Amino acid sequence: MNALNNLRRFMLRVPIVYRLLIGNSLVILVLAAAATLLTRQFTGVPAAYLILLFSLLGFVLVFLLNYTTIRISLRSLDGLRQTIEQVGYERGSPPEAIHLDRDPDLQPLAEAINAMLSRLENYTQQLRALTERVTSAQEDERQRIARNLHDETSQSLSSLIISLERIERDLPPGASDLKNRIVQARQVATRTVEDLRKIIYDLRPTMLDDLGLIPAVRWYARTTLEEAGMRVQFEIPEENLRLPRHLETELFRIAQEGVNNIARHSNARRVIIRMVAETDHICLELDDNGTGFDVVETESSALNTKHLGLLGIQERAALVGGQVDILSEPGHGTLLRVCLPGRFR
Ligand SMILES: Nc1ncnc2c1ncn2[C@@H]1O[C@H](COP(=O)(O)OP(=O)(O)OP(=O)(O)O)[C@@H](O)[C@H]1O
Ligand SMILES: [Mg+2]
Repeated sequence: MNALNNLRRFMLRVPIVYRLLIGNSLVILVLAAAATLLTRQFTGVPAAYLILLFSLLGFVLVFLLNYTTIRISLRSLDGLRQTIEQVGYERGSPPEAIHLDRDPDLQPLAEAINAMLSRLENYTQQLRALTERVTSAQEDERQRIARNLHDETSQSLSSLIISLERIERDLPPGASDLKNRIVQARQVATRTVEDLRKIIYDLRPTMLDDLGLIPAVRWYARTTLEEAGMRVQFEIPEENLRLPRHLETELFRIAQEGVNNIARHSNARRVIIRMVAETDHICLELDDNGTGFDVVETESSALNTKHLGLLGIQERAALVGGQVDILSEPGHGTLLRVCLPGRFR
Protein backbone atom coordinates (compact mmCIF):
# COMPACT_ATOMS: atom_id res chain seq x y z
CA MET A 1 0.00 0.00 0.00
CA ASN A 2 2.87 2.30 0.96
CA ALA A 3 4.77 1.44 -2.20
CA LEU A 4 1.65 2.23 -4.25
CA ASN A 5 1.27 5.60 -2.54
CA ASN A 6 4.93 6.40 -3.13
CA LEU A 7 4.58 5.45 -6.79
CA ARG A 8 1.47 7.66 -7.05
CA ARG A 9 3.27 10.59 -5.43
CA PHE A 10 6.28 10.07 -7.69
CA MET A 11 4.09 9.92 -10.80
CA LEU A 12 2.31 13.16 -9.80
CA ARG A 13 5.68 14.90 -9.86
CA VAL A 14 6.44 13.65 -13.38
CA PRO A 15 5.17 15.99 -16.12
CA ILE A 16 2.02 14.75 -17.82
CA VAL A 17 3.75 14.20 -21.21
CA TYR A 18 6.22 11.74 -19.64
CA ARG A 19 3.46 10.10 -17.59
CA LEU A 20 1.57 9.38 -20.83
CA LEU A 21 4.68 8.19 -22.68
CA ILE A 22 5.68 5.82 -19.85
CA GLY A 23 2.10 4.52 -19.52
CA ASN A 24 1.60 3.93 -23.24
CA SER A 25 4.99 2.25 -23.63
CA LEU A 26 4.11 -0.07 -20.74
CA VAL A 27 0.79 -0.98 -22.41
CA ILE A 28 2.59 -1.75 -25.69
CA LEU A 29 5.16 -3.87 -23.85
CA VAL A 30 2.50 -5.85 -21.94
CA LEU A 31 0.42 -6.36 -25.08
CA ALA A 32 3.41 -7.44 -27.17
CA ALA A 33 4.44 -9.97 -24.50
CA ALA A 34 0.87 -11.25 -24.08
CA ALA A 35 0.40 -11.49 -27.86
CA THR A 36 3.61 -13.49 -28.32
CA LEU A 37 2.76 -15.91 -25.50
CA LEU A 38 -0.89 -16.36 -26.46
CA THR A 39 -0.24 -16.92 -30.21
CA ARG A 40 2.08 -19.78 -29.22
CA GLN A 41 -0.63 -21.30 -26.98
CA PHE A 42 -3.55 -20.96 -29.39
CA THR A 43 -2.02 -22.05 -32.68
CA GLY A 44 -5.40 -23.33 -33.95
CA VAL A 45 -7.23 -19.99 -33.55
CA PRO A 46 -7.52 -17.96 -36.81
CA ALA A 47 -5.17 -14.97 -36.98
CA ALA A 48 -8.10 -12.56 -37.60
CA TYR A 49 -9.62 -13.42 -34.17
CA LEU A 50 -6.30 -12.86 -32.41
CA ILE A 51 -5.79 -9.50 -34.19
CA LEU A 52 -9.31 -8.45 -33.17
CA LEU A 53 -8.76 -9.57 -29.57
CA PHE A 54 -5.39 -7.74 -29.16
CA SER A 55 -6.63 -4.62 -30.94
CA LEU A 56 -9.64 -4.42 -28.61
CA LEU A 57 -7.51 -5.12 -25.53
CA GLY A 58 -4.97 -2.49 -26.63
CA PHE A 59 -7.69 0.07 -27.30
CA VAL A 60 -9.37 -0.47 -23.89
CA LEU A 61 -6.06 -0.37 -21.97
CA VAL A 62 -4.73 2.74 -23.76
CA PHE A 63 -8.09 4.50 -23.37
CA LEU A 64 -8.33 3.77 -19.63
CA LEU A 65 -4.72 4.71 -18.98
CA ASN A 66 -4.82 8.01 -20.87
CA TYR A 67 -8.24 8.92 -19.48
CA THR A 68 -7.16 8.34 -15.85
CA THR A 69 -3.83 10.15 -16.26
CA ILE A 70 -5.45 13.23 -17.82
CA ARG A 71 -8.34 13.27 -15.27
CA ILE A 72 -5.87 13.17 -12.36
CA SER A 73 -3.85 16.01 -13.87
CA LEU A 74 -6.92 18.11 -14.53
CA ARG A 75 -8.13 17.65 -10.93
CA SER A 76 -5.45 20.14 -9.83
CA LEU A 77 -7.00 22.66 -12.22
CA ASP A 78 -10.24 22.48 -10.22
CA GLY A 79 -8.50 23.85 -7.10
CA LEU A 80 -7.02 26.56 -9.26
CA ARG A 81 -10.43 27.47 -10.70
CA GLN A 82 -12.09 27.54 -7.25
CA THR A 83 -9.43 29.89 -5.85
CA ILE A 84 -9.61 32.22 -8.84
CA GLU A 85 -13.43 32.29 -8.62
CA GLN A 86 -13.20 33.51 -5.03
CA VAL A 87 -10.92 36.45 -5.89
CA GLY A 88 -12.65 39.76 -5.21
CA TYR A 89 -15.73 38.39 -3.41
CA GLU A 90 -14.48 39.04 0.11
CA ARG A 91 -13.89 42.77 0.33
CA GLY A 92 -11.09 43.65 2.68
CA SER A 93 -9.62 40.15 2.93
CA PRO A 94 -6.67 39.31 0.64
CA PRO A 95 -7.09 36.32 -1.72
CA GLU A 96 -5.43 33.11 -0.55
CA ALA A 97 -2.32 31.90 -2.39
CA ILE A 98 -2.73 28.73 -4.49
CA HIS A 99 -0.89 25.52 -3.52
CA LEU A 100 -0.70 22.69 -6.05
CA ASP A 101 1.24 19.90 -4.36
CA ARG A 102 4.20 20.45 -6.71
CA ASP A 103 2.39 19.48 -9.89
CA PRO A 104 5.14 20.17 -12.46
CA ASP A 105 2.70 21.17 -15.22
CA LEU A 106 0.53 23.50 -13.17
CA GLN A 107 3.08 24.81 -10.67
CA PRO A 108 4.39 27.58 -13.00
CA LEU A 109 0.80 28.63 -13.72
CA ALA A 110 -0.01 28.66 -9.98
CA GLU A 111 3.09 30.74 -9.31
CA ALA A 112 2.16 33.23 -12.03
CA ILE A 113 -1.38 33.50 -10.61
CA ASN A 114 -0.02 33.90 -7.06
CA ALA A 115 2.25 36.70 -8.23
CA MET A 116 -0.71 38.33 -9.98
CA LEU A 117 -2.87 37.98 -6.81
CA SER A 118 -0.19 39.60 -4.72
CA ARG A 119 0.16 42.49 -7.22
CA LEU A 120 -3.62 42.86 -7.18
CA GLU A 121 -3.63 42.93 -3.37
CA ASN A 122 -0.92 45.54 -3.45
CA TYR A 123 -2.91 47.76 -5.83
CA THR A 124 -6.03 47.29 -3.71
CA GLN A 125 -4.17 48.37 -0.56
CA GLN A 126 -2.77 51.43 -2.36
CA LEU A 127 -6.21 52.37 -3.68
CA ARG A 128 -7.72 51.88 -0.22
CA ALA A 129 -5.10 54.11 1.39
CA LEU A 130 -5.78 56.72 -1.27
CA THR A 131 -9.56 56.47 -0.76
CA GLU A 132 -9.04 56.84 2.98
CA ARG A 133 -7.04 60.00 2.47
CA VAL A 134 -9.54 61.43 -0.05
CA THR A 135 -12.51 60.65 2.20
CA SER A 136 -10.94 62.21 5.25
CA ALA A 137 -9.80 65.29 3.27
CA GLN A 138 -13.32 65.60 1.86
CA GLU A 139 -14.79 65.37 5.36
CA ASP A 140 -12.43 68.07 6.70
CA GLU A 141 -13.22 70.28 3.72
CA ARG A 142 -16.96 69.82 4.21
CA GLN A 143 -16.60 70.72 7.87
CA ARG A 144 -14.57 73.83 7.02
CA ILE A 145 -17.08 75.00 4.37
CA ALA A 146 -20.03 74.27 6.70
CA ARG A 147 -18.38 76.28 9.49
CA ASN A 148 -17.63 79.22 7.18
CA LEU A 149 -21.14 79.21 5.76
CA HIS A 150 -22.57 79.08 9.26
CA ASP A 151 -20.27 81.58 10.95
CA GLU A 152 -19.95 84.09 8.14
CA THR A 153 -22.55 83.85 5.33
CA SER A 154 -25.42 82.83 7.56
CA GLN A 155 -24.58 85.47 10.21
CA SER A 156 -24.30 88.19 7.54
CA LEU A 157 -27.69 87.24 6.10
CA SER A 158 -29.21 87.29 9.59
CA SER A 159 -27.87 90.83 10.18
CA LEU A 160 -29.24 91.81 6.76
CA ILE A 161 -32.69 90.54 7.78
CA ILE A 162 -32.51 92.49 11.06
CA SER A 163 -31.46 95.66 9.18
CA LEU A 164 -34.32 95.23 6.70
CA GLU A 165 -36.75 94.80 9.61
CA ARG A 166 -35.45 98.02 11.16
CA ILE A 167 -35.76 99.97 7.89
CA GLU A 168 -39.27 98.54 7.47
CA ARG A 169 -40.18 99.72 10.97
CA ASP A 170 -38.67 103.21 10.49
CA LEU A 171 -40.28 103.95 7.13
CA PRO A 172 -42.67 106.94 7.02
CA PRO A 173 -46.37 105.91 6.87
CA GLY A 174 -46.86 106.99 3.21
CA ALA A 175 -44.07 104.83 1.71
CA SER A 176 -46.14 101.67 1.18
CA ASP A 177 -44.55 100.82 -2.20
CA LEU A 178 -41.06 100.95 -0.73
CA LYS A 179 -42.28 98.95 2.28
CA ASN A 180 -43.57 96.17 0.00
CA ARG A 181 -40.23 95.96 -1.78
CA ILE A 182 -38.39 95.78 1.54
CA VAL A 183 -40.74 93.03 2.79
CA GLN A 184 -40.06 91.05 -0.40
CA ALA A 185 -36.29 91.51 0.02
CA ARG A 186 -36.57 90.34 3.65
CA GLN A 187 -38.55 87.26 2.59
CA VAL A 188 -35.91 86.39 -0.02
CA ALA A 189 -33.18 86.78 2.61
CA THR A 190 -35.14 84.58 5.07
CA ARG A 191 -35.63 81.84 2.43
CA THR A 192 -31.92 82.00 1.58
CA VAL A 193 -31.03 81.51 5.25
CA GLU A 194 -33.31 78.45 5.36
CA ASP A 195 -31.78 77.01 2.15
CA LEU A 196 -28.34 77.71 3.52
CA ARG A 197 -29.18 75.88 6.74
CA LYS A 198 -30.12 72.79 4.68
CA ILE A 199 -26.87 73.01 2.73
CA ILE A 200 -24.86 73.34 5.96
CA TYR A 201 -26.62 70.34 7.47
CA ASP A 202 -26.01 68.27 4.34
CA LEU A 203 -22.35 69.20 4.39
CA ARG A 204 -21.85 68.26 8.03
CA PRO A 205 -24.67 68.27 10.56
CA THR A 206 -23.43 70.00 13.71
CA MET A 207 -25.75 67.54 15.44
CA LEU A 208 -23.34 64.73 14.49
CA ASP A 209 -20.50 66.40 16.39
CA ASP A 210 -22.61 67.75 19.24
CA LEU A 211 -25.12 64.96 19.92
CA GLY A 212 -23.71 61.96 18.05
CA LEU A 213 -24.70 59.51 15.35
CA ILE A 214 -28.15 58.45 16.50
CA PRO A 215 -29.81 61.89 16.73
CA ALA A 216 -28.11 62.88 13.45
CA VAL A 217 -29.37 59.78 11.57
CA ARG A 218 -32.80 60.17 13.15
CA TRP A 219 -32.99 63.81 12.06
CA TYR A 220 -31.64 63.19 8.54
CA ALA A 221 -33.94 60.22 7.87
CA ARG A 222 -36.98 62.01 9.22
CA THR A 223 -36.47 65.24 7.25
CA THR A 224 -35.59 63.45 3.99
CA LEU A 225 -38.06 60.56 4.04
CA GLU A 226 -41.07 62.17 5.66
CA GLU A 227 -40.75 65.02 3.16
CA ALA A 228 -41.01 62.33 0.45
CA GLY A 229 -44.26 61.05 2.06
CA MET A 230 -42.81 57.93 3.72
CA ARG A 231 -43.51 56.69 7.25
CA VAL A 232 -40.32 56.20 9.23
CA GLN A 233 -39.97 53.86 12.22
CA PHE A 234 -36.88 53.69 14.41
CA GLU A 235 -35.73 50.64 16.34
CA ILE A 236 -32.75 52.10 18.15
CA PRO A 237 -32.32 50.92 21.73
CA GLU A 238 -29.45 53.06 23.01
CA GLU A 239 -30.17 56.67 22.19
CA ASN A 240 -27.15 58.22 23.88
CA LEU A 241 -24.52 55.84 22.47
CA ARG A 242 -21.36 57.63 21.25
CA LEU A 243 -18.82 56.02 18.92
CA PRO A 244 -15.31 57.14 17.98
CA ARG A 245 -15.58 60.21 15.74
CA HIS A 246 -14.39 58.54 12.53
CA LEU A 247 -16.91 55.69 12.93
CA GLU A 248 -19.74 58.15 13.57
CA THR A 249 -18.78 59.97 10.38
CA GLU A 250 -18.54 56.78 8.28
CA LEU A 251 -21.86 55.39 9.55
CA PHE A 252 -23.58 58.75 9.11
CA ARG A 253 -22.37 59.06 5.48
CA ILE A 254 -23.47 55.47 4.82
CA ALA A 255 -26.89 56.17 6.36
CA GLN A 256 -27.12 59.40 4.33
CA GLU A 257 -26.52 57.54 1.03
CA GLY A 258 -28.94 54.74 2.04
CA VAL A 259 -31.67 57.22 3.02
CA ASN A 260 -31.17 59.24 -0.19
CA ASN A 261 -31.45 56.04 -2.23
CA ILE A 262 -34.72 55.17 -0.48
CA ALA A 263 -36.08 58.68 -1.10
CA ARG A 264 -34.96 58.72 -4.76
CA HIS A 265 -35.50 55.16 -5.98
CA SER A 266 -37.66 53.04 -3.67
CA ASN A 267 -41.21 54.45 -3.79
CA ALA A 268 -41.59 52.88 -0.34
CA ARG A 269 -44.49 53.59 2.02
CA ARG A 270 -42.67 52.74 5.24
CA VAL A 271 -39.03 52.58 6.22
CA ILE A 272 -37.59 50.94 9.36
CA ILE A 273 -34.22 52.10 10.64
CA ARG A 274 -32.55 49.74 13.10
CA MET A 275 -29.32 50.10 14.98
CA VAL A 276 -27.88 47.38 17.20
CA ALA A 277 -24.67 47.79 19.18
CA GLU A 278 -23.08 44.55 20.43
CA THR A 279 -19.83 44.13 22.35
CA ASP A 280 -17.67 43.84 19.24
CA HIS A 281 -19.69 45.42 16.42
CA ILE A 282 -22.42 47.87 15.55
CA CYS A 283 -24.99 47.25 12.82
CA LEU A 284 -27.19 49.75 11.01
CA GLU A 285 -30.12 48.52 8.94
CA LEU A 286 -32.29 50.45 6.51
CA ASP A 287 -35.33 48.39 5.62
CA ASP A 288 -37.82 49.70 3.04
CA ASN A 289 -40.90 48.11 1.50
CA GLY A 290 -40.43 49.73 -1.88
CA THR A 291 -39.76 48.54 -5.43
CA GLY A 292 -36.48 46.71 -4.71
CA PHE A 293 -33.89 46.05 -7.41
CA ASP A 294 -31.59 43.43 -8.91
CA VAL A 295 -28.49 43.73 -6.72
CA VAL A 296 -26.11 41.61 -8.84
CA GLU A 297 -26.98 43.40 -12.08
CA THR A 298 -26.82 46.85 -10.47
CA GLU A 299 -23.43 46.14 -8.90
CA SER A 300 -21.93 44.77 -12.10
CA SER A 301 -23.08 47.75 -14.18
CA ALA A 302 -22.26 50.39 -11.51
CA LEU A 303 -18.98 51.53 -13.06
CA ASN A 304 -20.42 51.87 -16.57
CA THR A 305 -23.58 53.64 -15.48
CA LYS A 306 -21.67 55.83 -12.98
CA HIS A 307 -24.12 54.99 -10.16
CA LEU A 308 -21.54 54.89 -7.41
CA GLY A 309 -23.50 55.37 -4.18
CA LEU A 310 -23.64 51.67 -3.23
CA LEU A 311 -19.99 51.17 -4.17
CA GLY A 312 -19.16 54.14 -1.94
CA ILE A 313 -21.00 52.45 0.95
CA GLN A 314 -18.99 49.24 0.39
CA GLU A 315 -15.70 51.16 0.23
CA ARG A 316 -16.43 53.20 3.37
CA ALA A 317 -17.33 50.03 5.30
CA ALA A 318 -14.23 48.16 3.99
CA LEU A 319 -12.00 51.04 5.11
CA VAL A 320 -12.94 50.36 8.73
CA GLY A 321 -13.07 46.55 8.36
CA GLY A 322 -16.87 46.44 8.08
CA GLN A 323 -19.30 44.29 6.13
CA VAL A 324 -22.20 45.33 3.88
CA ASP A 325 -25.17 43.14 2.92
CA ILE A 326 -27.75 44.30 0.43
CA LEU A 327 -30.81 42.09 0.25
CA SER A 328 -33.22 43.14 -2.45
CA GLU A 329 -35.37 41.78 -5.22
CA PRO A 330 -37.56 43.65 -7.68
CA GLY A 331 -40.96 44.06 -6.04
CA HIS A 332 -39.84 42.95 -2.57
CA GLY A 333 -38.23 45.98 -0.93
CA THR A 334 -34.63 46.46 0.11
CA LEU A 335 -32.64 45.74 3.25
CA LEU A 336 -29.27 47.43 3.55
CA ARG A 337 -27.24 46.15 6.50
CA VAL A 338 -23.87 47.59 7.45
CA CYS A 339 -21.88 46.18 10.38
CA LEU A 340 -18.68 47.79 11.62
CA PRO A 341 -16.34 46.16 14.12
CA GLY A 342 -15.23 47.78 17.41
CA ARG A 343 -15.87 47.76 21.19
CA PHE A 344 -19.08 49.62 21.94
CA ARG A 345 -20.07 48.54 25.46
N1 LIG B 1 -33.63 51.40 -1.62
C1 LIG B 1 -33.64 51.21 -2.95
N2 LIG B 1 -34.80 50.86 -3.56
C2 LIG B 1 -34.86 50.64 -4.91
N3 LIG B 1 -33.78 50.73 -5.73
C3 LIG B 1 -32.60 51.07 -5.17
C4 LIG B 1 -32.46 51.33 -3.77
N4 LIG B 1 -31.17 51.62 -3.52
C5 LIG B 1 -30.53 51.56 -4.70
N5 LIG B 1 -31.39 51.24 -5.70
C6 LIG B 1 -31.05 50.99 -7.13
O1 LIG B 1 -29.66 50.79 -7.21
C7 LIG B 1 -29.09 51.71 -8.13
C8 LIG B 1 -27.70 52.07 -7.68
O2 LIG B 1 -27.73 52.87 -6.49
P1 LIG B 1 -26.51 53.83 -6.21
O3 LIG B 1 -26.73 54.51 -4.91
O4 LIG B 1 -25.25 53.04 -6.37
O5 LIG B 1 -26.55 54.86 -7.42
P2 LIG B 1 -27.57 56.08 -7.64
O6 LIG B 1 -28.32 56.37 -6.37
O7 LIG B 1 -28.39 55.78 -8.85
O8 LIG B 1 -26.57 57.27 -8.00
P3 LIG B 1 -25.55 57.97 -6.99
O9 LIG B 1 -24.20 57.65 -7.56
O10 LIG B 1 -25.91 59.41 -7.05
O11 LIG B 1 -25.76 57.40 -5.62
C9 LIG B 1 -30.05 52.88 -8.19
O12 LIG B 1 -29.96 53.56 -9.43
C10 LIG B 1 -31.38 52.18 -8.01
O13 LIG B 1 -31.84 51.67 -9.24
MG1 LIG C 1 -27.33 56.57 -4.54
